[in-house]
Amino acid sequence: MNAFEGDEAAAIRADGLVKKFKGKTALAGVDLTARTGTVLGVLGPNGSGKTTTVRILSTLLHPDEGRATVGGYDVVRQPHQVRRLIGLTGQYAAVDDELSGTQNLLLIARLLGYTRPGARRRAAELLERFALSDAADRPVKTYSGGMRRRLDLAASLVGRPSLLYLDEPTTGLDPHSRNEMWDVVRGLLDDGVTVLLTTQYLEEADQLTDDIVVLDHGKVISRGSPDQLKARAGTQVLQVQPVEPGELDRVVGIVELVSGSEARTSSSTASAAVTDPAVLPEVVRRLDDQGISVAELTLRKPSLDEVFLALTGHPADDVPSDTTAPAFERTHG
Ligand SMILES: Nc1ncnc2c1ncn2[C@@H]1O[C@H](COP(=O)(O)OP(=O)(O)O)[C@@H](O)[C@H]1O
Ligand SMILES: [Mg+2]
Repeated sequence: MNAFEGDEAAAIRADGLVKKFKGKTALAGVDLTARTGTVLGVLGPNGSGKTTTVRILSTLLHPDEGRATVGGYDVVRQPHQVRRLIGLTGQYAAVDDELSGTQNLLLIARLLGYTRPGARRRAAELLERFALSDAADRPVKTYSGGMRRRLDLAASLVGRPSLLYLDEPTTGLDPHSRNEMWDVVRGLLDDGVTVLLTTQYLEEADQLTDDIVVLDHGKVISRGSPDQLKARAGTQVLQVQPVEPGELDRVVGIVELVSGSEARTSSSTASAAVTDPAVLPEVVRRLDDQGISVAELTLRKPSLDEVFLALTGHPADDVPSDTTAPAFERTHG
């Protein structure tokens, strides 16, 4: 029975989750929904409550208030049923460094009740799928960071979960390994798995997720599709640095006029969110008209910090957790 009637499409549903650690609020009422067969991204900086949310949804931690269901099962009252549905990877992966990739997966498969030949087959299949066959018999301690993450992921897939939690699966990986991990996550969706993925990277959420909730100090400050979020934050950032620092004010004027958004300055650089890349030639033309030489002129993706600034009006790490009510419009997706 689904505890939230009329919402069968929701694989995960959390309502008003509150969690305090020794009086310090980690979650201040988190609501989220992951639709079956999609990827829900939980985007937020360090300390925003991502892992606490994942731990509650995986039954490892009880909420102080609120409730959550996974596959219709209540995470507090029906933890065994919930655990049967989920695979969990991230900081909890129980991979043993001294064992080989194969040995690790065999151990897990046997714990999950596979027969010996069944376990062998499953281990080989997963190692192959995650491009670890060549390293299958080496101890995990010899693996690179990217290989280790892939083994973590393989380990959480042994039991064929219908739901998978990926807690910052690419944090600390080099760009190449990150791309490999992204491909792996995309592959999971072809299997119909529902994924909850936490990340600090807007680009990662953009690449991999269908819906995003943005967490800040234990609260959902924004939610929507990646496109909706980027539209709210500006899709790109225009950054201009004049050769002469004294010309920064005039640069700010041009940037604001052309982008239509408020510019920020840092030492000698002006930047502003832009939604239309066609502003670039227009900026160049106006700078040229005014005889301003530039040391730098770039159009780049917004950082998470800039997204936060756009969504909240404050930088990600700038505000103590228990201050004022948020000064932004909260949307429900
Ligand atoms: N076991 C714990 N004991 C005390 N404080 C904790 C504990 N776990 C998390 N916190 C605090 O709760 C907040 C949210 O942490 P966390 O969920 O780990 O954030 P994230 O995963 O987004 O970095 C942080 O301020 C963190 O210090
Ligand atoms: Mg975390």
